[in-house]
Amino acid sequence: MSGIDMSAVGGPGINAAASAGTAGAGAASAVIAPAARGDVLSVRGLKVGYGGIQAVKGVDLDVNRGELVTLIGANGAGKTTTLKAITGGVGWSGDIAYMGKSIAGRKAFHLLREGLVMVPEGRGVFARMTITENLLMGAHVRSDGQVQADIDRMFGLFPRLKERAGQLAGTMSGGEQQMLAMARALMSQPKLLLLDEPSMGLSPIMVEKVFEVVRSVHAEGTTILLVEQNARLALQIADRGYVMDSGEVTLTGPAARLLDDPKVRAAYLGEEL
Ligand SMILES: Nc1ncnc2c1ncn2[C@@H]1O[C@H](COP(=O)(O)OP(=O)(O)OP(=O)(O)O)[C@@H](O)[C@H]1O
Ligand SMILES: [Mg+2]
Repeated sequence: MSGIDMSAVGGPGINAAASAGTAGAGAASAVIAPAARGDVLSVRGLKVGYGGIQAVKGVDLDVNRGELVTLIGANGAGKTTTLKAITGGVGWSGDIAYMGKSIAGRKAFHLLREGLVMVPEGRGVFARMTITENLLMGAHVRSDGQVQADIDRMFGLFPRLKERAGQLAGTMSGGEQQMLAMARALMSQPKLLLLDEPSMGLSPIMVEKVFEVVRSVHAEGTTILLVEQNARLALQIADRGYVMDSGEVTLTGPAARLLDDPKVRAAYLGEEL
């Protein structure tokens, strides 16, 4: 079975989200084990409302050490809201554990110190600081002596930033600012890096570059949760994926299988069934 049956249980390795973690019925329950909780991040029954609007309606999501997990879905699906809940930026109910401990009541600032780092939509570099100063700001939570070595490492990963080290961040192009935002986040030595649409608003070549960098940061061992509109590229570099629709996770599975699935291709990759 190569496809995903959105109403029940999908092919081997793909869970229709509604049946994940439940006993299920019939023969299918034998092959779909309840998902183990992620050792870096484990989200269960996450709900977020804005006034009367329920933006996230009971999301389950896991990230394990060393994984690159992507969360894809249409505009307004609740992806950014999910990331905001995880980083303490918005009130939520349910259960979120980071490194095995509940983050309920923890402030964004404390989570950052513990390596939970987000690069938000729209980047947010310090416009009036130089590139080097931005990178040093990223390292302010650290007290080790490796900061300069890490700046050199960032300059290796992002050669453009090295060329422009003394330039004010606010005068850089959108793509360059995206690179800087990622480099600054990496300077804090994240244990979990959350990226919210790093390719947004970039030219096709810049998009390719950003994805290349995400791939190499992952290859170096950083654990990443990547939110993306660009579902195809995200699934191409990810280990696993979650598809979100109207506040709910509707599908999850290995990225390669989601990429191959006709319904995912039709709904999220712009292809004919
Ligand atoms: N501060 C807010 N107040 C009220 N509603 C909000 C707020 N932030 C988000 N929403 C609503 O919550 C829903 C989910 O928004 P969210 O930003 O999480 O979506 P998204 O999946 O990140 O979309 P996109 O791909 O467009 O970035 C949307 O309907 C949005 O209008
Ligand atoms: Mg968003």
